[in-house]
Amino acid sequence: MLVAMKAVIPAAGWGVRFLPLTKEQPKEMLPVIDKPVIQYVVEEAAAAGIGDIIIITGRHKRTIEDHFDRSFELESILRNGNRKALLDSISGLHELADLHYIRQHEQRGLGDAVYRARHHVGNEPFAVMLGDTIHVSEVPVVKQLMQVHARTGRAVIAAERVPGEKVKDYGVLDAVRMEDRLYDVKDLVEKPRPEEAPSDLCIAGTYVLTPGIFECLERTEPGYNGEVQLTDALRLLREKEGLLAWEFVGKRYDIGDIPGWLSAQLELALKHPVYGERLRERIKELDRKEHFL
Ligand code: G1P
Repeated sequence: MLVAMKAVIPAAGWGVRFLPLTKEQPKEMLPVIDKPVIQYVVEEAAAAGIGDIIIITGRHKRTIEDHFDRSFELESILRNGNRKALLDSISGLHELADLHYIRQHEQRGLGDAVYRARHHVGNEPFAVMLGDTIHVSEVPVVKQLMQVHARTGRAVIAAERVPGEKVKDYGVLDAVRMEDRLYDVKDLVEKPRPEEAPSDLCIAGTYVLTPGIFECLERTEPGYNGEVQLTDALRLLREKEGLLAWEFVGKRYDIGDIPGWLSAQLELALKHPVYGERLRERIKELDRKEHFL
């Protein structure tokens, strides 16, 4: 039986890798086809049965709250204009889950952002879903982790193999395989230098954690980049309670920088049931004229 749990979505970072685009708008609101990135994340949580979501926000992040609010005026315009599909695309957003917002007043890192949620989460296991990760999978990736947690009682993080040159951009795992896709984590290191990376198995941005993480976060000093890193607190949690990693089934799009965002847009647009065909035709046409492929 899956235990109902809350999810924390940290969405307070500056988004510096997207400047100037994110100077005044949150990177979590960047569009991917017709939805902002964070809507995919909230939809994944809702699809996993998570009904209570805490979004950690900060300055310049107010449009996130507005996006999930009801807009009676816009709904009535669409209703009166008989624009049902568009109406449907916005009218249920506020019902996806109970959304709560906690502001991180100072950007002290991912670990600190998660720590802000401690009072709301309480003494229960909970999910952490980064606000810039989109998954395409049959079973929501967060649900896969909830299933592992349900049968082991341990904290578990989603992991993915990453090409060599990209490993330095991730938290990296030293882990021993226990069974198909399941690993016992021995150590973790945040954004190691290539020669120091323990493997190519990386932290993929979705976690199911036990409440013990909060005490670990209290003991965690600023690390990589002068920020309180969740990865460093997870090392302490591992010592205390053990830690698992799950090589998830599905595909992950990391909207963490401009190349990642552009390729997610392209790939998802090409597969899109409404826009895919036209885009493919357009690309072929451009290639015929300009031979850019
Ligand atoms: C964060 C985590 C890192 C993880 C990554 C996944 O880093 O700190 O451990 O591998 O997300 O996307 P960020 O990308 O926010 O710098």
